[in-house]
Amino acid sequence: MDSFIKNLPKVELHLHIEGTLEPELMFQLAKRNNVSIPFETPDQVRDAYQFHNLQSFLDIYYQGANVLIHEQDFYDLTWAYLLKCQQDNVVHTEIFFDPQTHTERGIAFEVIVGGITRALNQAEQELGISSQLIMCFLRHLDEDSAFETLKQALPYKDKIIAVGLDSSEQGNPPEKFKHVFQEAINQGFLTVAHAGEEGPAQNIIDALSLLGITRIDHGVRCVEDEDLMEQLIAKRTPLTVCPLSNTKLKVFETMQEHNIVELLRKGLCVTINSDDPAYFGGYMNDNFLAVANAHPVTKNELAQFSINAIEASFISPHAKEDLITQVRQYLAANT
Ligand code: ADE
Ligand code: ZN
Repeated sequence: MDSFIKNLPKVELHLHIEGTLEPELMFQLAKRNNVSIPFETPDQVRDAYQFHNLQSFLDIYYQGANVLIHEQDFYDLTWAYLLKCQQDNVVHTEIFFDPQTHTERGIAFEVIVGGITRALNQAEQELGISSQLIMCFLRHLDEDSAFETLKQALPYKDKIIAVGLDSSEQGNPPEKFKHVFQEAINQGFLTVAHAGEEGPAQNIIDALSLLGITRIDHGVRCVEDEDLMEQLIAKRTPLTVCPLSNTKLKVFETMQEHNIVELLRKGLCVTINSDDPAYFGGYMNDNFLAVANAHPVTKNELAQFSINAIEASFISPHAKEDLITQVRQYLAANT
């Protein structure tokens, strides 16, 4: 199964670029930019990654991002992630970035987008990895700040396919952002949102109805509402599930208790993703392996996760067809 997973063509739809900052690169950038960090070694940083919920992670995560200052830093961060994609046979990736984490520290929007897109373009040329970029609003900040961020993004519309919503779900429901999402839709952006990670199923219902989202990030708490489940199955609304993230942040105590395989078998369009791999112990292959080691899944089901991700992606129908054929051929040759 290990080699089947390793060579399976994969698509990632839930990946925060700031969450790919490995401790080694954090140290390198801290030194290069003369930023102090409260750790002596990369191993010490890893030891500090013990989380008991989403907020305990976010506090450390936003602190880590302080070492990102120049365009080259955003390029180096993104390029390092794309090399992991190459290793894991990720053929297409849709990447989140959180502009407010940086603009609030005085970093210009163009520095962030410039560095990330330079690496993405290079990966398309040199590694054959295609990508899309999704800009997330931080939900612990107010809607005015999100509006300001949307305004800053308008000159880069051709580089950003969608807007999303992340950070602390508890106490920051979808309703808080309904006006800015409507404006984003008016401006031609697609929309996605984190919902039903730590928050209740109602957040999924509200994100679908108030924010016009076309796929749900996490969404694992959908099982708490029967009607919602029926609707998600009927419409094949995609869920970008992040298994290692969910166990690290105690959404599920163990991988055996994770509901991803149950959701797949009920007919939901669930996908496997890495969320913040530098913090949660693994990239795409590690997430697939963690699921396969904890649940008796078939090769067919593993391939279905990839096919679901292709279906759920923001690429053209023609590109989807090509990738699905690639996965089906791989499955046929390896069963
Ligand atoms: N930002 C980065 N990772 C996140 C997650 N899992 N949930 C909410 N916001 C995030
Ligand atoms: Zn996330």
